[in-house]
Amino acid sequence: MLFLKSLLPFVCLGLVFASNLNSFVLHENVKSVPDGFVSLGSAQPQDIVKLRIALAQPNKNAIADAVYNVSDPSNSLYGQHLSKAEVEALIAPSQDTKNAVSSWLQENGLNPTTTSPAGDWISISVPVSQANSLFAANFTTFVHQDSDKQFIRTLSYSLPKSLQGHVDLVHPTVIFPEPAELTSAKPKKKRAFHKVEPVGRGTSSDCANGTTPACLRDLYRIPITPATNKKNSLGVTGFFGNNAHYSFLESFLKMYRPDVDLKTSNFTSVGIDGGSNDQDYPSVSEGELDIQYTVGMATSVPVTYYFIGYDAQDDLGGFLDEANLLLGLENPPLVLTTSYGRRENSISLELTKKLCNVYAQLGARGTTILYASGDSGPGCSSTNATLFQPTFPSNCPFVTSVGGTQGYAPEEAWQGSSGGFSNYYRRPFYQTTAVVPYLALHGHQNVGRYNASGRAFPDIAAKADNFLILEPTVFAVSGTSASSPTVASIVALLNDRLLNKGRPPLGFLNPWLYSVGQFAFTDITKGNSSIQCDENDPPRGFSAEVGWDPVTGLGTPRFDKLVSLLGL
Ligand SMILES: *[C@@H]1O[C@H](CO)[C@@H](O)[C@H](O)[C@H]1NC(C)=O
Ligand SMILES: *[C@@H]1O[C@H](CO)[C@@H](O)[C@H](O)[C@H]1NC(C)=O
Ligand SMILES: *[C@@H]1O[C@H](CO)[C@@H](O)[C@H](O)[C@H]1NC(C)=O
Ligand SMILES: *[C@@H]1O[C@H](CO)[C@@H](O)[C@H](O)[C@H]1NC(C)=O
Ligand SMILES: *[C@@H]1O[C@H](CO)[C@@H](O)[C@H](O)[C@H]1NC(C)=O
Ligand SMILES: *[C@@H]1O[C@H](CO)[C@@H](O)[C@H](O)[C@H]1NC(C)=O
Ligand SMILES: *[C@@H]1O[C@H](CO)[C@@H](O)[C@H](O)[C@H]1NC(C)=O
Repeated sequence: MLFLKSLLPFVCLGLVFASNLNSFVLHENVKSVPDGFVSLGSAQPQDIVKLRIALAQPNKNAIADAVYNVSDPSNSLYGQHLSKAEVEALIAPSQDTKNAVSSWLQENGLNPTTTSPAGDWISISVPVSQANSLFAANFTTFVHQDSDKQFIRTLSYSLPKSLQGHVDLVHPTVIFPEPAELTSAKPKKKRAFHKVEPVGRGTSSDCANGTTPACLRDLYRIPITPATNKKNSLGVTGFFGNNAHYSFLESFLKMYRPDVDLKTSNFTSVGIDGGSNDQDYPSVSEGELDIQYTVGMATSVPVTYYFIGYDAQDDLGGFLDEANLLLGLENPPLVLTTSYGRRENSISLELTKKLCNVYAQLGARGTTILYASGDSGPGCSSTNATLFQPTFPSNCPFVTSVGGTQGYAPEEAWQGSSGGFSNYYRRPFYQTTAVVPYLALHGHQNVGRYNASGRAFPDIAAKADNFLILEPTVFAVSGTSASSPTVASIVALLNDRLLNKGRPPLGFLNPWLYSVGQFAFTDITKGNSSIQCDENDPPRGFSAEVGWDPVTGLGTPRFDKLVSLLGL
């Protein structure tokens, strides 16, 4: 009897455990803690964690179908971009999903906040003890050794059976922050130019002392005539610490674009996550570069600096918060250029899919999404020094990834230009005719270091070397950070002509780029990317080749050819 009594609780416990196991299904897990993070043990039960829950979209392919329909020139729907309401109708959770999630929330006494315009992201704040039982998780405090910052994460979590198929993921759970929160494709300060001569016009020497607006104008035939369409827009992503100064822009324009009207060649700022483009904050090149080479090149196009603050609520450096803000606008910018990125494998496949999906939504709305490809050549895997490391968001098939070149007519590949092949996304249909021949001819180089079946990047390139910026003295900076704003300005000027003719903006570029558009690009065939991943191994990289290559993509743009190809 006594024996039995003392046994009873154990039996009960066993039963409860078994029924718990049955009602949960493992959803995501990671095998190990990333380098640089150390466990401090279970998180305090009363600590509050803020979790975002991504609700399933009713039809997983709908948004990809929609964006391809409107951006593939061979499709009859080409250019017929969707409205905010139309995109939301495609992705809003089904009634079944809403019911399943709200009864689960109610059972657990949870009151969520909706964090995306279509209602497919919600957020809950719960104590660690409850988070552990809600998701059969073990939330643990980890310290990042270099920064001494602490993060609460779990190495695995499960979803109750009732949420299966209704919830795509819970975040932040298994994803650890990148050590630097966000790695910008940082321009490297090379040398200060204390004396700069007035710039001449239209000759090759325009690029002799560094890359200036005149140099880009000459190289890519970018016009100086001001844009006129009031509905045109260009967005630039900014990130805390990379403030752009109005006074430096003004001096930059006076020096390099004395022809422009300073009233229309300016920008406005929109803060995200507490961001404000504080004019008293010291200068770091990135913000000045991105603004000076959009406002300074896309003459009179309205430019908005979307400035992400320190207080990123998405545990993703603001990428998701920014996209949700833009999706909430009736008229999101027609071009968005971002010179930040991170390693592909620093974000789980599930989370990457959700982020890539928001870029597809913006593409379906008619926004051209440009990302700098990165400054680490083919990149180094943190887990295996023989493997290359692709970057996010360039791995996403719904963004246009911009690599870098250097020199002047002919340009060559810039050595830092990131490129390669995704391990997450298969090669999209639009890349077949460009990438299959590349692999057939050159796939033996670096074989085994990359995943030949993956989405290949970059798509295109532009100059990346020695951009002269004012902050307030003249500096020369290099990086794909410079290439992406340059391409953004070209797209914005093309959009201006399209809109003035009553035509839709270019929107998501890639299906058009790889078919019709490629003929307006100058193929870059010399130079290579290069990085040394292991001291016992020589530097490795990809070479620029005839046709598409994983350093410069299809090549660099020629405005005059784009204009005639588009019939403008
Ligand atoms: C949870 O993680 C902590 C810290 O790693 C560990 O000490 C504990 O045993 C784990 N608990 C469970 C139930 O797995
Ligand atoms: C895409 O186009 C196909 C064929 O024109 C059409 O059947 C489908 O409904 C479209 N899908 C979306 C989401 O627009
Ligand atoms: C480049 O610098 C040299 C020497 O200062 C100067 O003579 C020349 O005009 C400059 N060229 C341009 C295009 O700025
Ligand atoms: C540009 O806009 C900012 C912010 O509105 C303003 O402070 C600045 O004076 C403007 N610059 C010029 C040259 O008008
Ligand atoms: C690294 O990757 C290469 C190529 O896939 C593979 O042959 C090798 O076994 C890997 N090394 C380790 C330590 O995983
Ligand atoms: C290679 O890429 C494909 C997708 O294109 C993916 O399914 C596969 O897991 C990747 N392989 C590795 C080793 O990452
Ligand atoms: C890149 O090109 C340079 C100059 O031709 C050459 O010295 C170097 O070995 C090449 N690097 C790689 C990784 O192919």
